[in-house]
Amino acid sequence: MSVAILDFGSQYSQLITRRLRELQVYCEMFPWDASHEKILSINPKGFILSGGPASVYDHDAPTLPEFILESGLPVLGVCYGMQLLVHTLGGKVAASETREYGLTRVTVSGENRLLALGEHAVWMSHGDIVGELPPGFSELALSQNGIFAAMRDGERGIYGLQFHPEVRHTIGGKEILRNFVHGICHIQPTWTPEKIIEDQVEAIREEVGEKQVLVAVSGGVDSSVAATLVHRAIGSQLHALFVDNGLLRKGERGQVERALKKHLGKDLQVVDASTQFLSALEGVSDPEKKRHIIGETFIRVFETHADTIQHPEFLVQGTIYPDVVESSAPDRSKAQRIKSHHNVGGLPEGMQFALIEPLRYLFKDEVRAVGEALGLPSSLVWRQPFPGPGLAVRCLGAVNQQRLDTLRDADMIFREELINAQLLNQRDNTSQTAAQAFAVILPVQSVGVMGDQRTYQEVIALRAVSSDDFMTADWTRLPDELLARTATRIINEVPGVNRVVYDITSKPPATIEWE
Ligand code: XMP
Repeated sequence: MSVAILDFGSQYSQLITRRLRELQVYCEMFPWDASHEKILSINPKGFILSGGPASVYDHDAPTLPEFILESGLPVLGVCYGMQLLVHTLGGKVAASETREYGLTRVTVSGENRLLALGEHAVWMSHGDIVGELPPGFSELALSQNGIFAAMRDGERGIYGLQFHPEVRHTIGGKEILRNFVHGICHIQPTWTPEKIIEDQVEAIREEVGEKQVLVAVSGGVDSSVAATLVHRAIGSQLHALFVDNGLLRKGERGQVERALKKHLGKDLQVVDASTQFLSALEGVSDPEKKRHIIGETFIRVFETHADTIQHPEFLVQGTIYPDVVESSAPDRSKAQRIKSHHNVGGLPEGMQFALIEPLRYLFKDEVRAVGEALGLPSSLVWRQPFPGPGLAVRCLGAVNQQRLDTLRDADMIFREELINAQLLNQRDNTSQTAAQAFAVILPVQSVGVMGDQRTYQEVIALRAVSSDDFMTADWTRLPDELLARTATRIINEVPGVNRVVYDITSKPPATIEWE
């Protein structure tokens, strides 16, 4: 019971997937020219054709794969998707004299199962328009400029929308998608956390059989949920490794250990490798070198411990759906390398494992819902992101025990103040609440005066950002009093610090982390 979304390249395509998942319907997005075996492998009960930048008249324009109409299943074409249906089924697509971009009013006149009658505000973004409907189709809605805004062939269950129901600006857009999947495709809303867990447990048991499985947990949401899910499926055949690299925040090791021990019990092994990491980092200040060394050291520690387990054949990774989609995007290879992101769980060279990726088809909020349904505490499920290389990339310049301790104490004070003021919040992020907040210790010292004495000490920068996806971010407009109190506490309670600054750059041009 799923929907297959064919991607014709619109910037909004991925949003269709998000909205359907919010409606508790399983769906996947495929490039429009993916093989029909691949697309049909998810057993779709309907298709959605996304928008896209092309014109159906471009010489290399994407086309409609034949099997879609041959299947006899319901189809919803959005923008380019609608034009493609028109073009393929014998209607006419025309270049538009009036480009409609942004909010437009449309009037729905024909009684139908997709759209409510009356006037609606919708989001348009197109060049071409439908000039003539194909045989068998009737008009459902017109825009204020007299353009066909919606059409249907009720008999065959084929619908077209010139506007974007997936964009939040389209009032009632989610209802339209709900009508399509529930009312027209007859798909029940069964994609719930409990169902995801049940399906995965069964699939993992079948795949693993009696074999042994390894997982490296970082305390991050994804690896913790993945490990707990696999443990639920195969119990003590799972061997979980939590590597303390000495670069964790204050109290973090204990917190993660307690939360995960409850679920993984004796199958969780905590390895204290902090000395090994800190000595590898000695004297290194270059950010990329730090990341590289941490990645390498992790692999060495992992290899040593993996060797103590009898023939592990599988490795669990907490890959989630946006990672999969991003890494298959066509222009990905052109993307500049800004930072080498090293996550726990990098595969040591020469070690042969089959991968188990139980979260591969889930969005972050679905991973969180599964985590909660598995009984993981909300403090872990709703954690703010924390980079794989940990505090090493927040300890600018030399990384050593003393500077890390200073950073940890300052960071703890900042987070405490934010939590007390209820301003650290992932769920409903606004410009005044931080989605991510931390302290950074700078590689300069500054002059100060304390009790009539000159000081020359460390500088702490505070970073708090508001963001939905961490790809772009704005600095959080925190209250002055909170910043003032945090600065006073840091200077009074953390020895060796005489100055605190607040970072007021957004991303871009800055990044969230300083290194
Ligand atoms: P930047 O600094 O690139 O960070 O704006 C974007 C988000 O990613 C987190 N981050 C990392 N996460 N491994 C990770 O798993 C890494 O190496 C890494 N570096 C940055 C960062 O905290 C922010 O949320």
